[in-house]
Amino acid sequence: MTGAGRGIGRALAVGLAAEGADLVLVARSRDQLEDTAALVGTNARVIPADLGDLAQVAEVAAEAGPVDILINNAAVPWPAGPTATVDPAEFAYAVAVNVTAVAALTIHLLPGMLQRGWGRIVNLSSGAAQVPAFLNGGNAYTTTKSAVEGHSVNLAAELADTGVTVNIYRPGTVDTSMMTWVRDGGGRRMDPKVHEFFADVQDRGDLLTPDQSAGYLLARLAGDDTGQTWHAADGVIAELAEES
Ligand SMILES: NC(=O)c1ccc[n+]([C@@H]2O[C@H](COP(=O)([O-])OP(=O)(O)OC[C@H]3O[C@@H](n4cnc5c(N)ncnc54)[C@H](OP(=O)(O)O)[C@@H]3O)[C@@H](O)[C@H]2O)c1
Repeated sequence: MTGAGRGIGRALAVGLAAEGADLVLVARSRDQLEDTAALVGTNARVIPADLGDLAQVAEVAAEAGPVDILINNAAVPWPAGPTATVDPAEFAYAVAVNVTAVAALTIHLLPGMLQRGWGRIVNLSSGAAQVPAFLNGGNAYTTTKSAVEGHSVNLAAELADTGVTVNIYRPGTVDTSMMTWVRDGGGRRMDPKVHEFFADVQDRGDLLTPDQSAGYLLARLAGDDTGQTWHAADGVIAELAEES
């Protein structure tokens, strides 16, 4: 479980533990991971790592040992702002965390899943991939989530009939620190319409809680579907798609 220190990742970890899973919790902030581990109250190992660094991704995979369910949830929403002003190094780091680490962890853990004939890989995406024009000034994030979706569907086709499934989860519009950042932090560098849209969603009380969003994914996780794009039941994205 990557990005398990807070937000949707923490809620997924708690939900998976309730189903009896032993967990490996990954993110950069050790204190947040330890808080999640305390909440989980089952067999949970904490591995602090920066997934933007391929060497650390390899260390995480080695330390984790055999993994049956890989949830690639960690992501960064930045850099934001007019693309001509974005630092290419920050863009590359976002690709490293949001895309390369997703593929690299999969590459490291897939042989074991194939050997055991069972595995579940879920890659978190976003409405940004569903409506790519919307996040105006969020080009890096939109680019990475679109890439994750292509990677996931292609890999699912490759792994057909192996017992290993690969699916995409678009978690809806969820009340997390990432959403606060998009609405009121660095995300303010995006088109003002983006800020207004998410401020309005919050004012209307339409944000999902992390627990609600995690619940939609957990309900689908054990099934045999593969190559699917799963959505949280979120009217906000439907509204966005209609507007665009
Ligand atoms: N919230 C929403 O409305 C929304 C909507 C669409 C999609 N999503 C997607 O849902 C997923 C979870 O988002 P969230 O809202 O729960 O975000 P969040 O609250 O910001 O949590 C992100 C998690 O990822 C970890 N992370 C970030 N950079 C990392 C790095 N370099 N290495 C390791 N871990 C890293 C963070 O921990 P550290 O900072 O400690 O590393 C944190 O645990 C993301 O893939 C996001 O794109 C969210």
